[in-house]
Amino acid sequence: MESAALLHDLDKLASVKPEVRGLPHGEGSADWLVRHGHAELAPVIVGHPVSRLADAAWFERWLETASPEALILAYADKRAGQQLESMAARFGSWERRYPPEARAGRARGSWTLETLGAVWRRAETLELLVCELAGVAPDEVRRLPWTGRALRSARGG
Ligand SMILES: [Fe+2]
Repeated sequence: MESAALLHDLDKLASVKPEVRGLPHGEGSADWLVRHGHAELAPVIVGHPVSRLADAAWFERWLETASPEALILAYADKRAGQQLESMAARFGSWERRYPPEARAGRARGSWTLETLGAVWRRAETLELLVCELAGVAPDEVRRLPWTGRALRSARGG
């Protein structure tokens, strides 16, 4: 779980991007990990991008088959910017960084208000499911002590 969490955005690295052959975010990370001997991490990572929430059929199929680790990673992605935050804050941050007029041509580009609403509802479904699995309420979610050490280590500190 920790390895998947730390490596899920691997395909954003400049040194990895040329190897992912234009695959969408998440699929690129999963593909790279398969080709480098870590196939077990691919299914945990592949469903984490917020753009997946815009595809109703994909989301429903994934929700029925995803492992608890994959569900947790996807949910954590909706709660963690530089700090742990609410989904509303996280989505607000995405909206400020990628306002509708700037999204044309991006992976999340051209989302209508209807799609944004559907994405939000699917994120809420994911939140309810993961929090039910963990036995906590969304406002009780906290970073565990090991995360600080792991992040420092991943940054080479
Ligand atoms: Fe990501």
